[in-house]
Amino acid sequence: MAHLILGIESSCDETGVALCDGEGRLLAHALHTQAAMHEEYGGVVPELASRDHIRRLVPLTEQVLGKAGATRQDLLAVAYTAGPGLAGALLVGASFACALAAALRLPAWPIHHLEAHLLSPLLATASESGRTGFVALRASNELGCAGKDRSLPRTEFPFVALLVSGGHTQLIRVAGIGRYELLGETVDDAAGEAFDKTAKLLDLGYPGGPALAALAERGRPGVFALPRPMLRSGDFDFSFSGLKTAVLTQLRRQPLDEQARADLAYEFQEAVTEVLAAKALAAARTAGVRDLVVAGGVGANRRLRARLAEGAMHQKLRVHHPPLELCTDNGAMIAHAAALRRQAGLLAVTTGDGAFDIRPRWSLTEVASAQ
Ligand code: KG4
Ligand code: ZN
Repeated sequence: MAHLILGIESSCDETGVALCDGEGRLLAHALHTQAAMHEEYGGVVPELASRDHIRRLVPLTEQVLGKAGATRQDLLAVAYTAGPGLAGALLVGASFACALAAALRLPAWPIHHLEAHLLSPLLATASESGRTGFVALRASNELGCAGKDRSLPRTEFPFVALLVSGGHTQLIRVAGIGRYELLGETVDDAAGEAFDKTAKLLDLGYPGGPALAALAERGRPGVFALPRPMLRSGDFDFSFSGLKTAVLTQLRRQPLDEQARADLAYEFQEAVTEVLAAKALAAARTAGVRDLVVAGGVGANRRLRARLAEGAMHQKLRVHHPPLELCTDNGAMIAHAAALRRQAGLLAVTTGDGAFDIRPRWSLTEVASAQ
């Protein structure tokens, strides 16, 4: 019986394809990152991204079906990222997904990229859990991932999600699938964007976040002093563009040797992670939840994880991270979000006619009613 959901992600510079079962358990996923292709331009070139998604989607889909020992006949639906993201890149994934669904006479489900990120910590693999999707594969108050210990606490609704990616920095109260309340967000740059832009200033290449974090490991505390923007603003909003400017000012003041660059990277990471952690922990307190879910690429940052773990211990909060490989964009979170929405009765069961829509700008708070 057809029982699998194919998930397609193509909103930016990663082509992701995955297979989940109807309960959101992951069977297989495959990912192609375009980072090397965009590196020489210092950022994502939208046209190149779209063309590369076209090249990758068919082979990745074949690969995923092969890995799972499944065929197209096992598919129940095709889910795809409909937004937010780069219009051209979204179009490629959406047209591929909808054409495949129409050819197989299956439904095609548009999925919100950020919803998929924020639900991804609930992702469990079929072999690791006999239960439905509401299982935290890795829940931990320690640095990094906690492994596969099933005695670990489960994420429960309501929870607060800290969404920290290259395009977004948001705190969201999640009351249930499709029930999202925006508590606060960045008023300018996203945290990942700030990491990437600052890394560029430090000549660290693209994508800069992981490179800057690696350089910061060699930095020393107390050498530079950068501001902690909006730390005491009394709300849950963020601002990161001033930090990037503060780094630029330091760089203009004097030439920095390798150690000084590491010291500056260290202080920058301290500043960003201090504000992110303080506001996320305060939001969880104010919202009266016991669980905090961290999603998006910056969620891979070890300093942020350590700060959240430390703060969580003091306020009896459980912090949930997706497995590291699923922190950044991937197809697994799309198939998984589709499965959860289907279980919640939030997706249409009708077969599509190949027509589709993308939403390059799409607020998460509109998502429940929009699909
Ligand atoms: O979620 P994601 O893969 O894509 C978006 O939807 O944006 O996030 C990518 C972002 C990039 O800005 C990247 O530099 C950042 O996440 N990132 C990190 C780390 N790993 C990825 N930032 C800081 N520390 C890291 N370890
Ligand atoms: Zn993302």
